[in-house]
Amino acid sequence: MKQKLYRNAAIYSPIDRGKAASGPNQGELAHFPHGALLVADGLIAAVGGEEEVRASLGGEAVEEIDCGGRCLIPGFVDPHTHMCFAARREAEFSQRLLGTPYLEILRQGGGILSSVRAVAAMDEESLLANTLRQVRRALSFGTTSLEIKSGYGLDTDNELKMLRVIGRVAEKAAVDVVATFLGAHAVPPAYRENPDAYVDLLIREMLPAVRAQGIARFCDVFCEEGVFSPAQSRLLLLAAREHGLELKLHADEVHDLGGAGLAAELAARSADHLLAASEDNMAAMAAAGVIATLLPATAYSLRKPYARARLMLEKGLALALATDCNPGSSYTESIPFVIGLAVLNMGLSPAEALVGATLNGAYAIGLADRVGSLTPGKQADFLLLDGETPAILAYHAGVSPVWQVYKRGEMVAAAPLC
Ligand code: NIG
Ligand code: FE
Repeated sequence: MKQKLYRNAAIYSPIDRGKAASGPNQGELAHFPHGALLVADGLIAAVGGEEEVRASLGGEAVEEIDCGGRCLIPGFVDPHTHMCFAARREAEFSQRLLGTPYLEILRQGGGILSSVRAVAAMDEESLLANTLRQVRRALSFGTTSLEIKSGYGLDTDNELKMLRVIGRVAEKAAVDVVATFLGAHAVPPAYRENPDAYVDLLIREMLPAVRAQGIARFCDVFCEEGVFSPAQSRLLLLAAREHGLELKLHADEVHDLGGAGLAAELAARSADHLLAASEDNMAAMAAAGVIATLLPATAYSLRKPYARARLMLEKGLALALATDCNPGSSYTESIPFVIGLAVLNMGLSPAEALVGATLNGAYAIGLADRVGSLTPGKQADFLLLDGETPAILAYHAGVSPVWQVYKRGEMVAAAPLC
């Protein structure tokens, strides 16, 4: 068995205690200043202080790699993306800069609906090629596992097409991918006068088809004013659960409709966005064990107040961080950028942000049994940073301090060192 020893590394990793790290434990990291990581067959065989890891080898021959004292952390897990899209929406961005609100653009038939038209017009191979452009960029910024949502189909054929594309991403790029069905991303124009009929279609036709296809693991809904109400969201999510899907919500992104409370009531895996979530509903989420997935690049791009991350930690929540990468409200694949915003604009410590972008991200998409921390037995998904501590991710702004990216023990991306 070929073993590799990554030595002379400053190792930082969340500690997986069997659930997402929450409240006062959000920033808990194991730290080995003179650390080593032993990799065998793509898995982590040992991690710790260099002397200790060497001792565990018992004289076995290994290939040694000197990390030059650089920071070694787990690969990022991005638990909320819309990376499967056909075209960018640059003109809409300029429109928003001139003052047209995001939801107004959607109301006028643009926004998500313009992405829906673009996906309908694109064949599957081209959609896969476009999706891989985002995924490969994310990988170069250190994302080794991610979630991708459908939701630019809004009819059975195009939703299934998106899910097939998402299902094929992992064959073409060195990432683990979890698929989420987001047929309830917007109300299609044909149902504008009768959105309940679209919810009915979602429940009666799309959910059974999605289940039969077998690619999606989660069902999500955009619970927002002018999109889907909490009552409609509840109906859909309860039906999704009957079909064996786990639950997520886009909750309280723009208005406080009580989406966070609904996530708590349904014990969803996560509620995401939460810019406008109420204190009571934060507490309800914490009591129900719902992970709060925060998307600071969306608040940044929409120029909205950030989610109240510190208050959420006081309420005992577990925070995950994600890009929300999509062509409308957050066009970035970069977790380092998200960590920078989380630290400098939401008041998280670099350690809290790192746990959010690794272990808690993994819990938010049900992958923590194999990724999210440097724990023996998990996949050897790790990053070497051009820096000494995780703080470099926020400190070296506007660039990626991710030097080398490893997936299951293999180097899959590398940036030049200057
Ligand atoms: O998470 N809020 C709804 N969905 C995405 C945006 C999708 C889009 O604008 O294309 C979000 O922000
Ligand atoms: Fe989103």
